[in-house]
Amino acid sequence: MEQNEYYHSIFKRKSIRNFDLRPLDEDTLADISNHLRVLESLHDDIKVKLKIISSDGVKRRMMKKAPHYITVFSEAKNGYLTNIGFMLQQIDLYLSYNSLGSCWQGIPSPKKEVLESSNLEFVIFIAFGKPKDPQSPHRTKISEFKRKSLQEITDIKGADELLEAARLAPSSANGQPWFFTGDEGIIHVLAVKPNFVKALLVKDHYLIDIGIAIYHLKVAAEYLGKKTEILFDEAMKSNAFKGYDYIISLKLD
Ligand SMILES: Cc1cc2nc3c(=O)[nH]c(=O)nc-3n(C[C@H](O)[C@H](O)[C@H](O)COP(=O)(O)O)c2cc1C
Repeated sequence: MEQNEYYHSIFKRKSIRNFDLRPLDEDTLADISNHLRVLESLHDDIKVKLKIISSDGVKRRMMKKAPHYITVFSEAKNGYLTNIGFMLQQIDLYLSYNSLGSCWQGIPSPKKEVLESSNLEFVIFIAFGKPKDPQSPHRTKISEFKRKSLQEITDIKGADELLEAARLAPSSANGQPWFFTGDEGIIHVLAVKPNFVKALLVKDHYLIDIGIAIYHLKVAAEYLGKKTEILFDEAMKSNAFKGYDYIISLKLD
C-alpha cells in the first residue's frame, strides 16, 4: 500500500461495528498478518506483540461480535500508548483501503487464556472482518465525520490541509483530545487531559488517540511533499500549557 493510498483512506474510513461473521479467507488473513509485521513505530525500543484471535478469546461487554480481533500487547514503557495508536492506525487505514471493516475496541477485555498468552501488557483490541453491509464500508462526504472544527483544535495558521487529516482521526468515545500548536515548520502535539468523569469513560485511551492523530498528521505531511521528523522538544515540556500535556512534535522540511 502506497503512502498516498493511506492519505486518501483518512478521508473515507469509518468504524464498522456490524460484521459478516464468516471468517475471512486464509489469503486475506495472511496479508493482514504480513502487514502487522511491518508497521512503523514511534518508539523502536518498545516491544509490541500483535495476535489475531477469534471472538472466543474476547469478553465482548455489549459490543457486537466480529469474526477476528487484533489483540494488542505492549511493554508498558513511557510513550507506549501513543506508540500503539500510531502503529495500529496503519492497520485501520489498511483494512479500510481494502474495503474491510474495523473498529478500535477499548471496552472488551481478553479472556484469561489470551491475557496469559503474552508477558506484555494487554492494551486494546481492533475488531475486523467483512462489513455486514458491503455497500457502505466508506464515508463519501467529509460532513459524515462528526468532528470538532479546525479552529477548536489548533492555533496554527496556514497548515489547514495538513491539520485536516489529524482532525478526522478516530478517537475513544470520539473525544478528540488533541490540540496542535507551533507553525508550518514544526507542529507540537498536545493532549487535553480528560476530566474526572471522562477519565472513567475513556481511561488512558486518550493517549492512544493522540498516536492515531500523529500518524494521520505524518501521512498528510508526507503526501504534501514534506520530510518529517518526530522529536521531543524539552522547551515545550517545561513550558506548561494549562490543561494540556505536551506529547511530541512533528518537524516538517
Ligand atoms: C482508542 C479507541 C477506543 C475505542 N473503543 C471503542 C469501543 O470500545 N467500542 C466502540 O464501539 N467503539 C470504540 N472506538 C471507536 C470510536 O467510538 C470511533 O472511532 C469514534 O466515535 C469516531 O467514529 P469513526 O471511527 O467512525 O470516525 C474506539 C476508538 C478508539 C480510537
